[in-house]
Amino acid sequence: MELPPEFLTLYSRLDRQGPGTPEDVLWALGRLGLSGELRVCDAGCGTGADTVTLARALPEAQVVGIDAVPAFIEAGQARLGDLPNASLQVGDMAELEGPYDLIWSAGAIYFLGVTEGLQAWRGALAPGGVVAFSQGVFLGDDEPQAVRDFWIAEPALPDREGLRAQVAEAGFEVLDTRLLIGAPWQAYYEGLTREIAALRDDATPAMTAVLDACAQEVALWRQAPERIAYELVLARPD
Ligand SMILES: C[S@@+](CC[C@H](N)C(=O)[O-])C[C@H]1O[C@@H](n2cnc3c(N)ncnc32)[C@H](O)[C@@H]1O
Repeated sequence: MELPPEFLTLYSRLDRQGPGTPEDVLWALGRLGLSGELRVCDAGCGTGADTVTLARALPEAQVVGIDAVPAFIEAGQARLGDLPNASLQVGDMAELEGPYDLIWSAGAIYFLGVTEGLQAWRGALAPGGVVAFSQGVFLGDDEPQAVRDFWIAEPALPDREGLRAQVAEAGFEVLDTRLLIGAPWQAYYEGLTREIAALRDDATPAMTAVLDACAQEVALWRQAPERIAYELVLARPD
């Protein structure tokens, strides 16, 4: 994956690279009834925000965060501190080996495609293993233009029904879902806005272009924060 160095500089400074909160992770673990000596993968972990939450919530589990971007893994290592049951590694989440009792993936499966991603992960699940992933969704057919503008880079964004169909097509059953609206985006964009401001003064023209594009994304979100959603899906193979 080729990302501009300026983008990497900005995003490596963030606590997280997409919407989500620790409460979303804890909700999923509670709904799935997961505890004990589990093998957990945070696929597309970025700088590891959810890897840490998973490892703290599941102290007997071994949690590995995998991301394709070395700069994110390097930045995330510091966050792990002396957590004994978490690690981060550079890798391709399309080629997970497992076996894992839980594959957690926040805001990353769209890189593979929902159906394709679930199909790729099926073989990495331990018997009884589950996947929890979040994915952008349209909430309705008649979304305001601001919402369509926000998602303009993702023309194939599904609605909630379409997302269920993609999960079913992969041969998975949906166990539960949770809409991520408002706070999970606020958490992400607060950090992004802070780091945009921190980098502004000394920015090169290339960095200024990246900062402007990211600030524009935040501005678009602010126009319709109640209509811009990720859906967190808990699923297991049929
Ligand atoms: C929107 S970010 C979300 C990061 C993190 N899960 C979070 O919520 O903060 C998506 C992440 O997926 C990673 N990614 C994309 N394709 C990947 C692949 N094939 N293998 C591993 N990581 C990948 C990106 O590098 C990026 O860090």
